[in-house]
Amino acid sequence: MKRSKIKTIKQEKKAGEEALVKGWVRTVRHQKNFSFIELNDGSTLSCLQIIADSSLPNYTAIVERLATGASCAVAGILVESLGTKQAIELHAKEIEIIGECDSQHYPLQKKRHSFEFLRTIAHLRPRTNTIGAVMRVRNVLAFATHVFFQERGFIYLHTPIITASDCEGAGELFNVSTLDKEDPPRNKRGEIDHSHDFFGKLAYLTVSGQLNGESYACALSDIYTFGPTFRAENSNTSRHLAEFWMIEPEMAFADLSDTMDLAQIYLKYLIGEVLIKCPEEMEFFDRVIRKGTIARLQEMIDKPFQKISYIEAVEQLAKSGRVFEFPCHFGCDLQSEHERYLCEEVYKGPIILYDFPKAIKAFYMRENEDGKTVAAMDVLFPGVGEIIGGSQREDRHAILVEKMDRMGLDKEPYWWYLELRKYGSVPHAGFGLGFERLIQFVTGMENIRDVIPFPRTPNHAPF
Ligand code: 4AD
Ligand code: MG
Repeated sequence: MKRSKIKTIKQEKKAGEEALVKGWVRTVRHQKNFSFIELNDGSTLSCLQIIADSSLPNYTAIVERLATGASCAVAGILVESLGTKQAIELHAKEIEIIGECDSQHYPLQKKRHSFEFLRTIAHLRPRTNTIGAVMRVRNVLAFATHVFFQERGFIYLHTPIITASDCEGAGELFNVSTLDKEDPPRNKRGEIDHSHDFFGKLAYLTVSGQLNGESYACALSDIYTFGPTFRAENSNTSRHLAEFWMIEPEMAFADLSDTMDLAQIYLKYLIGEVLIKCPEEMEFFDRVIRKGTIARLQEMIDKPFQKISYIEAVEQLAKSGRVFEFPCHFGCDLQSEHERYLCEEVYKGPIILYDFPKAIKAFYMRENEDGKTVAAMDVLFPGVGEIIGGSQREDRHAILVEKMDRMGLDKEPYWWYLELRKYGSVPHAGFGLGFERLIQFVTGMENIRDVIPFPRTPNHAPF
């Protein structure tokens, strides 16, 4: 008999049919002449209840050795359940214990564990209801991302992970080098000589695929990337990872307002897909992780995002009468306390901030006519803050060169980027969505470390 996933059994199979399932035991309860086994295979949140009675030839072994955490295969016949918790259960005809589990040392006991504790057993935490549900939602969001862009003619572009330039110019780069750490070659001034390094220069892990993405958008029209990005920022917050996944669409012949429109329909589409495809998980998050999650998501789909210029936002903060830890005036970078106040208290929903002062934004953003601001936008969500950052790109060669000089950037690593402005330059624009922040919002999970399989944060990459 072919193995069925528990999800398929619950959705498609009926009482009277035979079935073979394989999975991990969540709990076992032994009665006098039979045992109840709750089996989970990760295909769905809920377990399949198995009834094993003493007529099984290996019943004694089952009672003695089939403990929480063990893996097994069960063949039997589906029957209508007398219990109220499930519609169907499996009456076992044959049970094979595949991998025993030392229940004395198995760290996942039946009680509820804290997420902090679960991070210390990141290899086993996918067997919990919450992490399993998060990863199924993550999967649906990833798939929906591809469907969304593919249906709109965007080309999926694989941008490099190793780069020679700092896209965001924030200096938060991880170095990539193969030089001998004990005795690296040095130049006359005694500095490490990277001309002997693997790439003939010091290289880095990418902070964003944008610059490479622009080059392909300026040939293929619309592209998107979806890959890991790396930031060596020493931020120990519930919203920062050193390795996170980003989706970066880039459109040629497009301006800032096109990115705002795209961001809005894309986010609404993703949220809609999760509500349709993950009803069981979303009901769980709403009940166990954060009350009102489903209603919040539905509202997100129904209401248009509010668009507010940076100047208006600063005015709102000034007249709020609030005492912020970091006072805000024109030119300041908005802190999360400001973002949260605007999102959660003033506008009570998602907002798109745009036209930021040029001094606080990256070099590649297009300067506005006022000479003070750039055509940039951030999408802010209640609870998580900035979820998307994007802009129209500076497509005028002379202005970009002047700006890079003013910012003291070494133009050499960007020579090819500048050439895109010399040969058939076009207005173009795009954005980056922080994938984990989106998952946080959708699931209501407090900490970003619990929405990625193996989180990397300062002092922490053990798995
Ligand atoms: O705003 P950021 O830095 O923008 C860029 O990297 C642009 N090059 C994107 C583009 O225009 N193509 O990052 C984009 C998003 C942020 O809005 C945030 O959601 C997420 O990436 N992000 C992080 N997520 C987790 N941990 C971190 N350390 C993050 N830093 C940024
Ligand atoms: Mg940003």
